[in-house]
Amino acid sequence: MTFLTKLDPSEQRTEQLSLSQRGRAGLEALGALQAFSSSAVRRRARESFEADAEARALSDQEPRPANVTEWRRWLRSATEIAGRLPAYRIERFHQRYVAEEIYRRGIPAVEERRESFEAFFRMPEGPTLGTLELDPSVPVPKYYDKVEWHLEPGGWDGYDLYSALFAFAVGPYVFRHGGYAAVEVGDDILEHRAQAVRQLPKRNYRRIYEPGCGGFSTMAAANSVFPDAELVASDLSPLLLETGHIMAERQGVRVQFKQRDARDTREPDASFDAVIMFALMHEMPVDVVRDTFREALRILEPGGDLIISDPPPFYAVSPFQAVVLNWDTRHRGEPFFTDACAADWAAELREIGFVDAEAYSLGEQGYPWITRASKPV
Ligand SMILES: C[S@@+](CC[C@H](N)C(=O)[O-])C[C@H]1O[C@@H](n2cnc3c(N)ncnc32)[C@H](O)[C@@H]1O
Repeated sequence: MTFLTKLDPSEQRTEQLSLSQRGRAGLEALGALQAFSSSAVRRRARESFEADAEARALSDQEPRPANVTEWRRWLRSATEIAGRLPAYRIERFHQRYVAEEIYRRGIPAVEERRESFEAFFRMPEGPTLGTLELDPSVPVPKYYDKVEWHLEPGGWDGYDLYSALFAFAVGPYVFRHGGYAAVEVGDDILEHRAQAVRQLPKRNYRRIYEPGCGGFSTMAAANSVFPDAELVASDLSPLLLETGHIMAERQGVRVQFKQRDARDTREPDASFDAVIMFALMHEMPVDVVRDTFREALRILEPGGDLIISDPPPFYAVSPFQAVVLNWDTRHRGEPFFTDACAADWAAELREIGFVDAEAYSLGEQGYPWITRASKPV
C-alpha cells in the first residue's frame, strides 16, 4: 500500500534483518493465500458475475452513473449481485482476513527482531545530504485523525516500527505478490512509481515536489528517472517523514522532507517545474483533493507539469472491477475510496485552471491510472 522501499538485496538477506522462521512462514502463508485468491478465485467470481443476467443488465445500463450519488446506487445493486456468488464471497473473505492478519502476525514478527530493526532505522553516522523539517504546529485534519488506514492499528503513526514491518515483513512476503485494492497479482508497486514518474512529459526537471510522500519510495523513483532534479517531499506523518529521510540518506539521495499539509506547502509561488502525487487522492475527501490541486497549481511555474497516479475511476473499469474497488471503502480502512473512484480528476484539474489534462491506464484493469496536466504558460 505504501512506503515500500527497495532495499539493497544484501540488507534484505542479513541474518539480523530477516524474520524468524515462524514469523516468515506466517506471512508467506498470507501472501500465498492472497495471490491465489485474487487470481484464481477472483477470476471465477468475475466470470460468474459476467454470466449473471441481472449483472449484464446493470452493465448495459445507459447512461452510466454521472455522479457519486448515482454511483453509490449503482454499486449497491452490483454488490448485491456479486454477494450472491460463492466465489466472490470467499475471495472477499480472504481479502479481509489477510488485511487484518498481516498486522497480527507481522507486528509480533518484527518485535522479535526489534533491536536490529531499530538499529537499521537509525540515522547513519556522518554528514547528511538532505533535510528533515518537522513542525508539530501543522494541524492534523479531522478526516485524517484516528483513521486506521488500511486497517493499520493506530493509523499511519500507530506503531513505531511500521517502516520495518513494510520493508522487511509485509512488503516482501505479502504485498510483493500484489492482489489487493487496485493492485493486480504480479504487479510491482515500486515499478509503478517509476512508471508514473516517467509519464512526466519533459526529459529534464529542475525541482520536483511530492505532497503526501509517505516516505521515500516515490522520491526514489523520481531520483532514478531525473537524477539531477532537486527533490522536496512533504507529508503530515512525522513517522513516515523520519523514516523516509533515513532511507534517502542510506541510499545517498538528497531530499528535503517537510511536515506539511498538501493544501498548504508554504513553498513560494511558481517554484517547481513538476509535482507528483502518488496514491494520495484516494486518501482524502474530494474537497481536500481540490485544494491540493489548487496548491499544486500555485507552486508550479508556468508550463510546469503535474502527474497523478491513483486507483482508476469507476467509469474506466469493468462493472465487476468497480465492485472490487468499492469494497475497500468499508472493509479495508479506505473511507474515501468510493468518492475518489467516482471522481474525474482530469475534469477537476481543468476546472481549477490546469491545461492539457488527460487520463489513461498503464496496466490491465485500469491500474496504474495516470492523470496528467500542466500549468498554462
Ligand atoms: C497511501 S500513502 C502514499 C504515500 C506515497 N505517496 C507513496 O508513493 O508511497 C498516502 C499519504 O498521504 C498522506 N496524507 C494524507 N492527507 C494528507 C494531507 N492533507 N497532507 C499531506 N499528506 C497527507 C498520508 O499521511 C500518507 O502518507
